[in-house]
Amino acid sequence: MEPRSGARCLPDGSRGPRASGSFGRRRFPAATRLPGQRPSAGWGAPGRRPAQEDRAGAAGRGAPTRLWEEASGGGPARHPHGVPPGPGPAAPAGPRRPPVPGETGPGRGPGSPAAARPRGAGLRGRRARAKPPAAAAATRQRNMSPVTSRRSRPRRPDPAARTAHAPPPAPHWPPLPRLRRPFRTVPLPRRLYGGAAMLRPPRRFPRQPRRAAATATGPGRRLLLSTPIFYANGPPHIGHLYSALLADALHRHRGLRAAGPGRLSTGTDEHGLKIQQAAAAAGTSPPELCQRVSGLFRQALSQAAVSFTDFTRTSEPRHQRAVRHFWGALRDGGALYKGSYEGWYCTPEECFLPESQLAERRDAQGRPCKVSLESGHQVHWTKEENYMFRLSAFRDPLQKWLRDNPRAISPDPFYQRVLRWLEEDLPDLSVSRERSRLQWGIPVPSDSTQTIYVWVDALVNYLSVVGYPETHGEWWPAAHHVVGKDILKFHAVYWPALLMAAGLAPPERIFVHSHWTVRGQKMSKSLGNVIDPFACIGQYTVDGFRYFLLRQGVPERDCDYYDEKVVKVVNSELADALGGLLNRSTALSINPSNTYPCFSESCFPKILDYRETKAVGRASAEDYEFVASVASLPLQVASYFEGFQIYKALECVALCVRQTNSFFQRHRPWKLNQQDPAEKLWLDTIIHVTLECLRVYGTLLQPVIPHTADKLLSRLAVEPEERGLSSLTFLPRYNGKPCPFEGRQLGPDTGILFHRLEKSRQHQIETEKL
Ligand code: MSP
Repeated sequence: MEPRSGARCLPDGSRGPRASGSFGRRRFPAATRLPGQRPSAGWGAPGRRPAQEDRAGAAGRGAPTRLWEEASGGGPARHPHGVPPGPGPAAPAGPRRPPVPGETGPGRGPGSPAAARPRGAGLRGRRARAKPPAAAAATRQRNMSPVTSRRSRPRRPDPAARTAHAPPPAPHWPPLPRLRRPFRTVPLPRRLYGGAAMLRPPRRFPRQPRRAAATATGPGRRLLLSTPIFYANGPPHIGHLYSALLADALHRHRGLRAAGPGRLSTGTDEHGLKIQQAAAAAGTSPPELCQRVSGLFRQALSQAAVSFTDFTRTSEPRHQRAVRHFWGALRDGGALYKGSYEGWYCTPEECFLPESQLAERRDAQGRPCKVSLESGHQVHWTKEENYMFRLSAFRDPLQKWLRDNPRAISPDPFYQRVLRWLEEDLPDLSVSRERSRLQWGIPVPSDSTQTIYVWVDALVNYLSVVGYPETHGEWWPAAHHVVGKDILKFHAVYWPALLMAAGLAPPERIFVHSHWTVRGQKMSKSLGNVIDPFACIGQYTVDGFRYFLLRQGVPERDCDYYDEKVVKVVNSELADALGGLLNRSTALSINPSNTYPCFSESCFPKILDYRETKAVGRASAEDYEFVASVASLPLQVASYFEGFQIYKALECVALCVRQTNSFFQRHRPWKLNQQDPAEKLWLDTIIHVTLECLRVYGTLLQPVIPHTADKLLSRLAVEPEERGLSSLTFLPRYNGKPCPFEGRQLGPDTGILFHRLEKSRQHQIETEKL
C-alpha cells in the first residue's frame, strides 16, 4: 500500500487536482501582499515528473497560482501570537495498569506556479531591480536556494556508524529560508528559464529551532514516544492496535532500561470532512460520534495493556489552542499564503489525489465516477480558495536533515523512500479548507471563512501533548513517532517541514510499519473482513494477541492475518515452550523444597574455550554454547528494539527457549538420584540454569507480554526492583559472582503459565468439513 496523499494541487499536468489563480500584476494589489513583500510566484525547485506510485507526492503537483494576500486572510496584519488563555497542558491521563519500570508518569516543475504563469507575467519592476548577471550568479552560489541547489541524492552514511547501542545522534537541522524577508530578484539561467527572473528566498536565514534540554543524549534523557492518533469515524481494528503495540513495546523496553523519563502518547483525530460525514451518516453530531469512538479507542488500548501516559483528543481546548498558536507561528514566519486550487478530493483519505492515482468506476446507480486506486473510495472534484504552505522551499532543509540523521527513519527502505520523494516534485501544500464545506475543525485564526486542514491539526498533537507553546521545550524534539507506511509522507515530509517553518526541530526518529492484510486481502469495512481487537483479546487473551502481533508483524512488509496462525504461534511458543519449561523446571518431584537451587561450579566449571578444552564437569560443549547464547540475549534484544525489529527480538527469545527445553530434556533431571550427593549437585545445577534462563526470558518479555512475564517472574520470586535490564546478570555463579536468588523460596504456584488456545470456531467448522 502506498502512502496516502496530503491535500495538494495539480497532478502531472493533465486533468488532475490543479491550482488556479493569477500571477499577473493586476491581480496582486500591493495592499494584499505580505509586509515588505513583492509579488512573487514559483520559487520552488524545478520539478520532476512525480513517480506514479506516490500518491502523496503527486498530489499538489503543479502548484497553485497565488492570490497574494495577507496570510491572516486580510484580517489584522499580525496575529497576536499569544493566543487566548486556555487550560494548560493536561495532566497525563492513562489507564490503570502495572507500572512500567523507569516511567515517570504521565518549483518550478510542470504545473508549478512559475510554470503556470505566462512567461514574464508579474515581473515588471523585478527585472529593473535585478542584479547584474555576475553578481546574481555569485549570490546564487552563496544562497543555494531550492532552485539552484538540487543535490544528488543523499546517501546513508557508513552503516557501521549506526550500531544499535550508539547513542542517537543529536538532531541536526538546517538553517531555514527566512520567508518573511523581502525576496530578492535574480535572473534565472537563460538556458533553463528563457532569461526570466524569479524570486528566490533571501540569503539570510532565520531563527534556529530552539534546542532544549530534551535534546541532550545519554542516560536519563526524556523521550516522548507516540502512536498516531486514530480517526474517530469508526471502531478500532487490529491495524490500529498494531501501531499502538509497537509504540507500547518500545516504551516499556525503554522503561526496563531505566533510560530516563518517558511518555507514551496516543489519542483520537477528531476533525475533518471524514468525521463530519460519518456523523451525518450515523444521524448524530460530530462531537457525539467522537465522544463515543474516542471512548472505544481508549478502551481498546487499555484492554490491550497499552501503557499510554497521555491521550489527546483533537477536539480538546488545550490541543486547539496549540494548533492556533502553531498556525500563528507558520504565518508569522511567512510560510503561508492564500491561493486557490481545484482537484479530486478523497474524503476517507483526507487528501487531494492526482489523476494518476485514480480509476474509472461506476457508482451504485451505475453512473461513471472516479475512485482512488489505492482505497477504492470515490473522489469528488473540489475547487476552493485555501491557505498554502510553502513546502516547496523545504526540499534542501529536509534532505539535509535526513543526510545528517541517517537513523531518523527506520527501517531503511522507508528512509530510502522518503529520500526518493524529496527528489521528486515537492509542490506547496494546501493547509486549509473553506469553512462552508468543512465546519468540523479549527477555524483559521483571523479568518473565519477557513478551517485548518485536518492533517496540520492532527500532527500538532505531538506538540500539544508536551505543553506547546509553553513547556514543550522540556520534551521536544526528543520524540519518536510510530506510524504506518500509509502516513509516512505526512510524518517524514510535511511534519518536519511544518516544524522547521514554525521554528522547531524535526522529531528525532520515525518508526514505520507495514500493514496487516486478512487472508491476503486489504482490511476494509466494505469487504467485511475487519478484525475486531476486542474479539481477538477475548479469544486469545491480551498477552496471546500482543505476542502474536509483535512476533509476526514485520515492519518492512505486509503481514497476513488468520486465526489459525495466532493459535499455532501462541500455543507453540507461549503455552508449550515457555509455559512447559516453567512447569517442568518447578515441578515438586524434582525440586521438593520449592527453592531456587544452587549452581555447582564443579558440575559446570567456567571454561574459556569449550570447543578446545575437554569437559571437566558434567556440562557438554552444547551446554556451553547454549549458555553463551542466553548470555548474549539481552544485548541482542536491546539492539533489535533499538532498530525497530521487535519481531527479531522475539525470534531470538523463542530460539533460546527452545534451546533451554533441549538442555533440560538432554539431561533428564527426573532420572537423577536425589539421594546421591553428586547427582543432587548436578540436578540442582540443571534446575538453576533453567530458572536463570526463565528469569532472563521473563525480564525480556515484559514489554510484549506484561501479564505473563509478571506471572513468570513472580513464580521465580524475582522482586519488582529486580526486573529491570540493569540488574539482569545471567548466571552470575558461572562467572564466580554471588547469585542473590540461590536458596530463595520460589513464589506461589498460580497454575499454568499460559493456557493453550482453542482453535477458533471458524477453524473448527472448516476442519470438521474436511
Ligand atoms: N488520523 C491519522 C493519523 C494522524 S497522526 C498525526 C490516521 N489514522 S488511522 O486511524 O487511519 O490510522 C492509524 C494507524 O493505524 C496508522 O499508523 C495506520 O498505518 C494504522 N493502520 C491502519 N490500517 C492498518 C492495517 N491494516 N495494518 C496495520 N496498520 C494499519 O491515519
